[in-house]
Amino acid sequence: MENKRCVVLGVTGGIAVYKALDVISALRKKDVDVRVIMTKSATEFVTPLTFQSMSQNIVTTDMFAEPKAWEIQHISLAKRADVFLVAPATANIIGKVANGIADDMLSTTIMATRAKVIFAPAMNTNMYTNPIVQENIAKLKKLGYEFIEPASGRLACGDEGKGKLAPASDIVEKVLSEFYDKKDLIGKKVLVTAGPTRANIDPVRFISNRSTGKMGYAIAEEARDRGAEVVLVSGPTNEPAPYGINVIKINTNEEMRSEVLKHFETSDIVVKSAAVADYKAKEYSENKIKKGNGDLEIILTRDNDILKELGEKKSGQILVGFAAESQNVVENAKGKLIKKNLDYIVANDITSKDSGFASNDNRVTIVTREGQELSLDKMSKREVARNLFDIIGGKR
Ligand code: CTP
Repeated sequence: MENKRCVVLGVTGGIAVYKALDVISALRKKDVDVRVIMTKSATEFVTPLTFQSMSQNIVTTDMFAEPKAWEIQHISLAKRADVFLVAPATANIIGKVANGIADDMLSTTIMATRAKVIFAPAMNTNMYTNPIVQENIAKLKKLGYEFIEPASGRLACGDEGKGKLAPASDIVEKVLSEFYDKKDLIGKKVLVTAGPTRANIDPVRFISNRSTGKMGYAIAEEARDRGAEVVLVSGPTNEPAPYGINVIKINTNEEMRSEVLKHFETSDIVVKSAAVADYKAKEYSENKIKKGNGDLEIILTRDNDILKELGEKKSGQILVGFAAESQNVVENAKGKLIKKNLDYIVANDITSKDSGFASNDNRVTIVTREGQELSLDKMSKREVARNLFDIIGGKR
């Protein structure tokens, strides 16, 4: 137990208290030890017993309760925390911490901890947007405290607006990313493209491909967890928007090109894993094409090669391409690396049945500009992403 990563979870009183139970459940599934401190008002919403059952740990509520051990509890919890999460965080706890008030178990423990403290606020939208609360948040951010922005929607009080506790999945992703063992991309900007593009034929039809975006999303998440600021330009996919990543959704080749060019100059590393359509309809039909008796011919014309353009414009960025091949995989990939002026190319054989398109796994060979070939076994796309950044990191 002692060696497990430990999250101390402060729960403060608001209707979203019950949602903290989902956070605990998800963290425990990732083998995280969760120690809960509830404020008195939190216990009015859900009993400590529920939190105790979910966390499988004694829940602390009272500064002056009969001690369970010889330690001074607010100090021992403050020391034990690897990450200190407050979810839901009321205006009250934010205000207390921002102003140095330590008058109960939770506020004293936050004051005493040296762990990263993350607040996930939840409150009425007028309270959240109140300049006093916003000023407190700004002050805490300046001091290194972090915030998981609340979501917008219909609030428990019936009002509409910002103030709902962020989804439990976002809170858990944020906490787990704090535990990530490699933090070598702090201060770096990483631009990733993912998914297919669509070439429109008429208002209802388009040409596209089987890319699901899984590889690109895994790369973006890996870069985020290593500390990078990530922009993800994504074609249409079913992947949920990952927490903490600037996701820009596009449809066409031209839209992807324009978004990529906007962010290219300021990026340190660019990974183009999108399956970009090379052709578009020569004539886009403004009206729906009606069927006739004979064949229908659609003439396709070449569209932008975005990666080639980046290779020409490159000024110090590390440029990584992907090569989806069905024959002479590595040889063709090497050709693309040279033609597009890349630093690395990730080659995969799309004929493989158990990896590649739509699969969670991939089997790739990473080729470097110097001609080194690194063949990886079949592994999850996230592990491919990890290997890729390890290789890039070794060169930086
Ligand atoms: N790419 C791009 N723009 C295109 C086509 C591809 O930016 N119009 C990028 C992809 O994101 C990928 C790399 O180029 O990183 C290689 O893509 P791939 O489709 O395998 O290569 P192509 O250059 O299109 O060559 P071919 O289709 O002839 O295999």
